[in-house]
Amino acid sequence: MQFASIVILTGAGLSAESGLGTFRGHDGLWDQYNLEEVATPEGFARNPPKVHEFYNLRRGWLKQAKPNAAHLALARLEQEHTGAVLTVTQNIDGLHEAAGSHRLIHMHGELGRALCARCGTSLPWTQDLSLTTSCPVCHKAGFMRPDVVWFGEMPREMPHIAAAIDACDLFVAIGTSGSVYPAAGFVAEARRAGAHTVELNLDPSDCASLFAEAHYGPATEVVPAFVGRLLHG
Ligand code: APR
Repeated sequence: MQFASIVILTGAGLSAESGLGTFRGHDGLWDQYNLEEVATPEGFARNPPKVHEFYNLRRGWLKQAKPNAAHLALARLEQEHTGAVLTVTQNIDGLHEAAGSHRLIHMHGELGRALCARCGTSLPWTQDLSLTTSCPVCHKAGFMRPDVVWFGEMPREMPHIAAAIDACDLFVAIGTSGSVYPAAGFVAEARRAGAHTVELNLDPSDCASLFAEAHYGPATEVVPAFVGRLLHG
């Protein structure tokens, strides 16, 4: 079946085989770190060095991480599919663009960028951040933070995402546990819009029952296979 407008939602499971840890489940990041301490505005206000240390460590992991076969398959889908393909990612790791995806929304921000909380400048950033880091634009120290969305902050580009889901005829969620809103609610919106819905994940997510079709296994296997069927029938 040919689809005219596809929305792909991705989560941490897509990058697991690139060596980046997921958040929940066995050995997940939220087993090792307190989410309230390292991923909320309140945690940052209480203890900025702790938050910087968490994201500096994760920014370091990105230096070794390469896109895997699943990221590459999604880039190929965007390039070769006759319909429109929009990828909405919760991942902050930059691996979609490294694989060649262009129509991409980073709803939880990007670890490869820093944001000055004083003047609002966002810019590409590869070094460690600390309380002494100065903003290259307003030159004040103490206001730089990773350009990511913390719990309690507004995810990016929600009106654009809502419009794309409303207009899509295929919605595919990949490697996400379906436990964090608003992304966890996208499948219900897609169903209301009349789209076919597909889950590709290692195991059934929290919203598995809402999907019309599902394929379970490692992303590097199930995603290229699914993309192959979409492109070549
Ligand atoms: N292939 C496919 N799926 C996998 C793989 C793999 N190799 N490994 C793990 N998974 C699946 C897990 O089964 C799980 O359902 O990926 C999912 C990862 O879930 P989470 O760790 O909860 O990640 P995600 O859904 O992206 O989290 C959403 O929570 O803390 C935040 O901001 C963070 O963006 C993140 C948000």
